[in-house]
Amino acid sequence: MYVCICNGVTDRDIAAAAAAGCAGVHELTMRTGCGATCGSCVDMAADLLAQAHGRRESEVVALSDIACAA
Ligand code: FES
Repeated sequence: MYVCICNGVTDRDIAAAAAAGCAGVHELTMRTGCGATCGSCVDMAADLLAQAHGRRESEVVALSDIACAA
């Protein structure tokens, strides 16, 4: 889904940026252009970035649980 119409940034682009280490919206804007024009997408982009980080942290916890159980 397109999150930033002005710059053609999708939810997948945001997830990929998060996976590549993008820590915040300012960095996301520098990497993808998301939010650089009208700014109406910034709140949704921030939410998606936070969700992506939450998902990644959950995956790390799940992997550490597996490693501890072995
Ligand atoms: S919709 Fe993202 S800058 Fe306009």
